[in-house]
Amino acid sequence: MYCCTKVNDDIIWIGVNDRKTPRFENYIPLDAGVTYNSYLIIDEKICIIDGVEAGEGGEFYSKIEATIGNSKIDYIVVNHVEPDHSGAIKGLVKLYPEIKIVGNVKTIMMLKDLGLNLKDDQVVVVKEKDVLDLGKHKLTFYMMPMVHWPESMSTYDMTDKILFSNDAFGSFGTLDGGIFDDEVNNEFFEDEMRRYYSNIVGKYGAPVNGIMKKLANVEISVIAPAHGLLWRKNIPEVFKKYQLWANMEAEKEGVVILYASMYGHTAEMAEVLGRELGNRGITDVIIYDCSKTDQSYIFSSIWKYKGLMIGSCAHNNDIYPRLQPVLHKLANYGLKNRYLGIFGNMMWNGGGVKGICDFAASLPGLEVLTEPIEAKGAVTPLQRDKLIELASIMAEKLIAERK
Ligand code: FEO
Repeated sequence: MYCCTKVNDDIIWIGVNDRKTPRFENYIPLDAGVTYNSYLIIDEKICIIDGVEAGEGGEFYSKIEATIGNSKIDYIVVNHVEPDHSGAIKGLVKLYPEIKIVGNVKTIMMLKDLGLNLKDDQVVVVKEKDVLDLGKHKLTFYMMPMVHWPESMSTYDMTDKILFSNDAFGSFGTLDGGIFDDEVNNEFFEDEMRRYYSNIVGKYGAPVNGIMKKLANVEISVIAPAHGLLWRKNIPEVFKKYQLWANMEAEKEGVVILYASMYGHTAEMAEVLGRELGNRGITDVIIYDCSKTDQSYIFSSIWKYKGLMIGSCAHNNDIYPRLQPVLHKLANYGLKNRYLGIFGNMMWNGGGVKGICDFAASLPGLEVLTEPIEAKGAVTPLQRDKLIELASIMAEKLIAERK
């Protein structure tokens, strides 16, 4: 029988660890899995907060039964309709026909769009700060449109001061031991929270700022997101990270060097840049070959560090194919507040460096540090000197910002 994990005396974590699905939204690698967190509040009225993905329904329903036996469920609050949270609701409604679906107007509309046949008497429509009274627990709702879908909202337990934040503050990675941040080594989840944010929520900085403002004066004892670790010890630190990310401000001094190289010349340029940054006291330098490392990890590092250098060989008069989607997504997100260096190889008639320059020109929030450095085949001594100068300017910029 599945064990059900207590959040507190009345609230049980009935989420699932998914170690089978290879890619989130079918494109982001889940090397360490993902959780779909769901919470059961046992009160005069029994209420579930958030569901799980359809394929995990069996475990989800078993956990509910193990927790409440034959009792009926009064409500399920649907903070977000994306099927990683709503997929198993259809089966839940079949098992518990009296259950009422709680959501905002868009929630209900989108659930119907996804094929859930809901009658009017099966839904409870809520809006900002409405209260759902379960008995001891009173729930209220904060709408957070575009964090990261139009219907997204969070639910706040006014009794125990728990914020059920859905995707906000969520992280990739399964919960293998403890479920709270004071029960596990946080470092992994901090990285995976950033990878989640930068890939899923990153485009929506303004709406994230909106919800941060709403929550600024709300007393929160636990952040209970729909993915990954629950936060109760490091809430101010987590808020601080979200504030930085929402404004696309870097967390740390450091440089990401991202390159595309077929036969090694652009890679050689990246190596020169990295070594010269190291020689100038920059301790955090990460070089990525875009053909090797999945872009989700590259985005996470770009969100973390202030410095960015991008290099490409030429391929059919264009940016190397594996680099194109990375730059496309960064442009789509409107990346800003980064120092940028541009380099690459024109063999034989260019296109890669020009493409990166076009990318940079489309993003006024990037500060391009020097003229692009473009080799033709083997790197010449003059080009090497220019790379050293670029590394030097980047290091000076970063060091000047040290407090
Ligand atoms: Fe976790 Fe936007 O779904």
